Amino acid sequence: MMLNRPRRNRQNEVIRSMVRESYLSPDHLIAPLFVIDGKNQNIPIKSMPGQSRLSIDELVKEVKELYSLGVKCVALFPAIDEKLKTPDAREAYNRDGLNFRSIRAVKEAVPGMLVMGDIALDPYSSDGHDGLVDPKTGEIMNDPTLEVLAKQALCEAEAGADIIGPSDMMDGRVGYIRMALDESSHQNKLIMSYTAKYASSFYGPFRDALDSAPKKGDKKTYQMDPANSTEALREAELDMAEGADILMVKPGLPYLDIIYRLKEMSTLPIAAYNISGEYAMLKAAAQNGWLDNDKAILETLTCFRRAGADIILTYFAKEAAKLLNK
Ligand code: PBG
Repeated sequence: MMLNRPRRNRQNEVIRSMVRESYLSPDHLIAPLFVIDGKNQNIPIKSMPGQSRLSIDELVKEVKELYSLGVKCVALFPAIDEKLKTPDAREAYNRDGLNFRSIRAVKEAVPGMLVMGDIALDPYSSDGHDGLVDPKTGEIMNDPTLEVLAKQALCEAEAGADIIGPSDMMDGRVGYIRMALDESSHQNKLIMSYTAKYASSFYGPFRDALDSAPKKGDKKTYQMDPANSTEALREAELDMAEGADILMVKPGLPYLDIIYRLKEMSTLPIAAYNISGEYAMLKAAAQNGWLDNDKAILETLTCFRRAGADIILTYFAKEAAKLLNK
């Protein structure tokens, strides 16, 4: 006799699905998309097989397909022409700029699609940093950056973005942006804060996609040290106090413990960003026949849910939605 046999609860798919603790649906997914200027452009990103930089007309097609598959939120990342990049990153709040034209086009074509706009200066800065750089010392200037970020947020809100996503890691930006939005009657725009964003080597393919790598130095004075987790709780407390609606952890896979800790300590929904390097690793292995692509995608995303992520930003969104709809 053996009283406890955990295998009894695993003996067939019916009982397994009855006791399953986490599940995945397209409702949980946000698809990040890269946008470029031009027409009919669909330029594959080498380090992210299956992902492309899309001109707005192609972007709209992609958004329609995602929507029909049940993915109802996209995060837009514009790749800006080098000529438009300046030390003051003023293209970040040019109302006719690519970012705002993309947001408007998506909302016009598919009004039900939630659009998340990125807040950070790196795509627009000739220094390739998320904040303004002091030309004398090379330091990232926190408070002067906040003003630029707030302008960018207002332009995104006016263009129709539903969610404002500050990915810059400047201190105080959530509160600063919240105030700017509320003062302009945008009190219903959500802020999904990149609360615990780490200085990670896994951002490489994303920086290829946008040509946004820092020209000098690294991002360690604003992005978090991968060795820390209690510090993430401090960031979370501040973002909650400053009015964030959703807290995000980024990267995702090597940081599942951070997702878990934030989920435990916060009453806000938690998002996880399954980033470019994580996508590249899985795709490279799958292309070599070393992993089963479809199974690895669904397992990866389910594990985010198990760790406590309510929402997952992932380049697998379209593939996963297709698999889930089967
Ligand atoms: C920067 C930003 C980065 C990503 C999104 N916004 C990378 C960075 O800090 O250089 C990375 C996303 C990914 O790797 O998929 N504002």
